[in-house]
Amino acid sequence: MPLDKPYLDIPGTTIFDAEQARKGYWLNQFCMSLMRPENRQRFKANERAYLDEWAMTEAQKQAVLARDLNAAIAEGGNIYFLAKLGFTDGQSFQQMAASMTGMTEAAYRDMMVAGGRSVAGNRVLAEGRPAPSAREPAPAAATARITASVYTSHVPAVGAAIDQGRTQEPYWQPVFAGYEPSRRWLAAHTPDVVVLVYNDHASAFDLNLIPTFAIATADEFQPADEGWGPRPVPPVRGHPALAAHIAQSVIQSDFDLAIVHRMDVDHGLTVPLSLLCGQPARWPFRVIPFAVNVVHYPVPSGRRCFQLGQAIRRAIESYDEPLSVQVWGTGGMSHQLQGPRAGLINRAWDARFVDRLIADPEDLSRLPHIDYVREAGSEAIELVMWLIARGAMADAAGGPPPTVVHRFYHVPASNTAVGHLILEEQSS
Ligand code: DHB
Ligand code: FE
Repeated sequence: MPLDKPYLDIPGTTIFDAEQARKGYWLNQFCMSLMRPENRQRFKANERAYLDEWAMTEAQKQAVLARDLNAAIAEGGNIYFLAKLGFTDGQSFQQMAASMTGMTEAAYRDMMVAGGRSVAGNRVLAEGRPAPSAREPAPAAATARITASVYTSHVPAVGAAIDQGRTQEPYWQPVFAGYEPSRRWLAAHTPDVVVLVYNDHASAFDLNLIPTFAIATADEFQPADEGWGPRPVPPVRGHPALAAHIAQSVIQSDFDLAIVHRMDVDHGLTVPLSLLCGQPARWPFRVIPFAVNVVHYPVPSGRRCFQLGQAIRRAIESYDEPLSVQVWGTGGMSHQLQGPRAGLINRAWDARFVDRLIADPEDLSRLPHIDYVREAGSEAIELVMWLIARGAMADAAGGPPPTVVHRFYHVPASNTAVGHLILEEQSS
């Protein structure tokens, strides 16, 4: 719907984008499984039975059984994944390519030897029709709007206190009291979608793959088991279409996001939801998980994060469905979880960080990493994520400054200084 896809009218060509990837997730994962000899053996022994182990559609299974690669691509398959199926059959890329053209293998090879298929007559579906970029723009529709941004620490012990019914204990009571106004505010200003910027804490991403920025496009995300069992909270409902739109728009603004089709979400994402929503049977809005690497150096600069927030704003405002969207930035404030300096807290630095975040975030975004770490502890670097949410507000795009709805600070929760801020757009 809202994605601009100028590649849709190239004949005989399917571009593998986030939408296709979602459609073809299990088909492609099935293909990947054929990289193991024992799986190839089981597949060859009984193709239907092996396919039935996968959550594929019947159309996808039929395409595989018929070795109909065009049909498989239409069902979300990607050629590099499907090639594993071809290789299992002893086929080469050239044989697979030929099979999709309606030509015999020999005729296809001869065409390639003679210089390959000509681009003439193969550029657009109907030659002579204007190229997509030259078409009339669609009439302006009501688009999604950012209404507010929320900033909060995401200490796992806070989640445990909620889950275990200990929020009124003397240690925890002042922490949760600080979020009472926020819960009332959120109940009165429930968005359709929250873009929730957080960091994965070695839960979804292990050391094999560390994306700097990752946006998740799934329908649903389960709470991660971080070692003490998954938190007893509802699954998080995603917004695949808006997530795919943000991915496309932001990547086309030169920010290279990783796209995640499946992952579990850890305390970085679920604890902020619990703090602001309490313990509902289901979360009252959809969530687009947006993960930022702040665990493995180098981590992205504050400046890059602020500019990314600006790009996310442009993306949301170009989505042609009138959704109300909030952007949340999580983590921080002062904390150090490691080594002999663990427990470091710098109240003055935290207060100044929030003052500057409100009044002059662009200037704050120039603060180098070393200042966060030296002044507020090694894990305070999580605060760069707050700059993403702040960059998504109207004033970062030349609009009016936001209104401060609520500001809260408390030491300690576990090892951390809890910081919290809500900024609302003036027009909302
Ligand atoms: C703590 C804080 C965090 O932000 C985190 O990710 C893990 C632990 C803490 O204070 O215990
Ligand atoms: Fe954290």
